[in-house]
Amino acid sequence: MHDKEQTQRNGMTEEGQSRPATDGAQAEGTGNVIDIVPRLGAQAALSGAGDLRTYPGPFSETDIVRIAREIKRRKAAEGAKVRVDTLAAQRMTAHLRAIGTNADAVTWLNGFSDASVDLLFTDPPYSTYIEPIEAFVDSWLLSALSKVKDTGSAYIFIGAYPREIAAYLNVLLGQTAFTVQTLVWSYKNTLGPAPSHSYKNNYQMVLFLRGKNAPRLQPANLLEQFSSQEMRAPDGRLKDRFHSWQKPYKIADMFVRHSTTQGDIVIDPFMCTGTFILAAADLGRIGLGCDNDDEVLKTAEERGCIIV
Ligand SMILES: C[S@@+](CC[C@H](N)C(=O)[O-])C[C@H]1O[C@@H](n2cnc3c(N)ncnc32)[C@H](O)[C@@H]1O
Repeated sequence: MHDKEQTQRNGMTEEGQSRPATDGAQAEGTGNVIDIVPRLGAQAALSGAGDLRTYPGPFSETDIVRIAREIKRRKAAEGAKVRVDTLAAQRMTAHLRAIGTNADAVTWLNGFSDASVDLLFTDPPYSTYIEPIEAFVDSWLLSALSKVKDTGSAYIFIGAYPREIAAYLNVLLGQTAFTVQTLVWSYKNTLGPAPSHSYKNNYQMVLFLRGKNAPRLQPANLLEQFSSQEMRAPDGRLKDRFHSWQKPYKIADMFVRHSTTQGDIVIDPFMCTGTFILAAADLGRIGLGCDNDDEVLKTAEERGCIIV
């Protein structure tokens, strides 16, 4: 696990300070929060997501505490052992900002109102797993973008394959709500056989989409603003790799910082091990995600996501 991720999973900030305990008395809730838990749940999403359409917007601190209590109560009712020490409560509260569910991406996305999300941050399956890639892109991309506010943005990781890149750009260059920039994430630490007649791919493209009224980016320094970023991939030898598709926590943390502020809603319809929504949660954003594979959601749960 990345050092920063490990620190944050332990309920501490990177500087070694304890995260402040959430004070439920400080803020007003947004609507009937206890209802939000089942609304975000797999049943609601799979049964047409009608209820998700009324998703009321960002959770306040009060909401998060109330959801934490409700989930604890339900887990206790199921006979699950619930830890109640302060650190566990702090962790639970922090992780409640990273909520995943088992659902199909398109169905789940339909549950969000238009222009209700600050950041679409996702990493869909690549063309090596999906055929035909063009139909797949058509099935979700514009629908997902319609959920993003005009003050919001999107980062979409895609494979470095010409046909896949063309499939995405064909759709994205045909819309006008977002400007499009192609970024690159490269890595040199995952080896494997090199092809004999072509170059070995060691990068992925990241499509950066900026809403018309999105505020300026907030990179910590000029290096962070370079359109090509080299960062090592999660690595089994360094014990921070839970899945072969997992992306680096560090790049997730960076993009969330650049394009969102505290309390913003970040969604990932292809969350897998939850890297992007966990980074969002650790930065005080609300991370909501889905995946249609129970096995990867177990890993996401082990990493700290709440799966409902
Ligand atoms: C490339 S992985 C995402 C990896 C993730 N960024 C991480 O760091 O762990 C893509 C994920 O999309 C999921 N997926 C594929 N088709 C889906 C669909 N129709 N609905 C929801 N999830 C889907 C897969 O199960 C897989 O976990």
